[in-house]
Amino acid sequence: FIRRQINIRPKIAIILGSGLGEFAESISKPIIIKTNTIPHYPCSTVEGHKGNLIFGRLKKVSTLIFQGRVHFYETGDINTVLYPIRVAASLGIKTMLITNAAGGINRSFKPGDLMLIKDQINLTFENSLTNTRRHSIHEPLYDSSLQEIIRNVAHIKQIHLKEGIYCGIKGPSYETAAEVEMIQRMGADAVGMSTVNEVTLATALGIRVASISCITNLSTGILNQKLTHEEVTDVASMVRQTFSELVSGSMEKFC
Ligand code: HPA
Repeated sequence: FIRRQINIRPKIAIILGSGLGEFAESISKPIIIKTNTIPHYPCSTVEGHKGNLIFGRLKKVSTLIFQGRVHFYETGDINTVLYPIRVAASLGIKTMLITNAAGGINRSFKPGDLMLIKDQINLTFENSLTNTRRHSIHEPLYDSSLQEIIRNVAHIKQIHLKEGIYCGIKGPSYETAAEVEMIQRMGADAVGMSTVNEVTLATALGIRVASISCITNLSTGILNQKLTHEEVTDVASMVRQTFSELVSGSMEKFC
């Protein structure tokens, strides 16, 4: 269904997290396929998640952009979360950048920071390898050469890039202060409701993966303030320019 509508073979793909969807405007001559027209494709109900597959060139590289994603809490079915990764793998994608909005746990972080994910803690307790031939995964989940490219681009463009461990939870509730403290003691720097299962499956399917979090807020208890979804999407759109520079600069070097 998808191949019939596109005239390029995308080499790289990016998943855009909450509030980061406007990056898709960087694509020249886009072909847009609405996810609700694709047979079996799960659709998002979350504000700030559009639900488009966008094919086109980012600089000179044939790219697929997933504008928006479906979270586990929207369906309760891990296969809907993993569906875009299977689509990417079937289309021959070999490299992916997975982005998200996350709450900052590391006390040196502030809203608007970008964090390169070094590694992850998966607290979703879901099996990302369901319906695959692989039963376990032994390689590092995050590709070190892609991480190095992102660090170099940040350095050249003078973008202040944090690094840390991302902890994935199911949501949809934000964590309690006690849960944030637990997650911090486990060694995480940021927490969010996506990414970990996607990254695990992508790596298992032989896709090289890198991931960047936009720290949209400080987690509950780190700062004594009530947290809202608007805050998350507002901060994400504030860092749009820096995010775009880092992402487009890195992705053209990924191939
Ligand atoms: N917690 C979990 N997910 C999030 C947060 C948070 O504080 N901010 C953005 N996504």
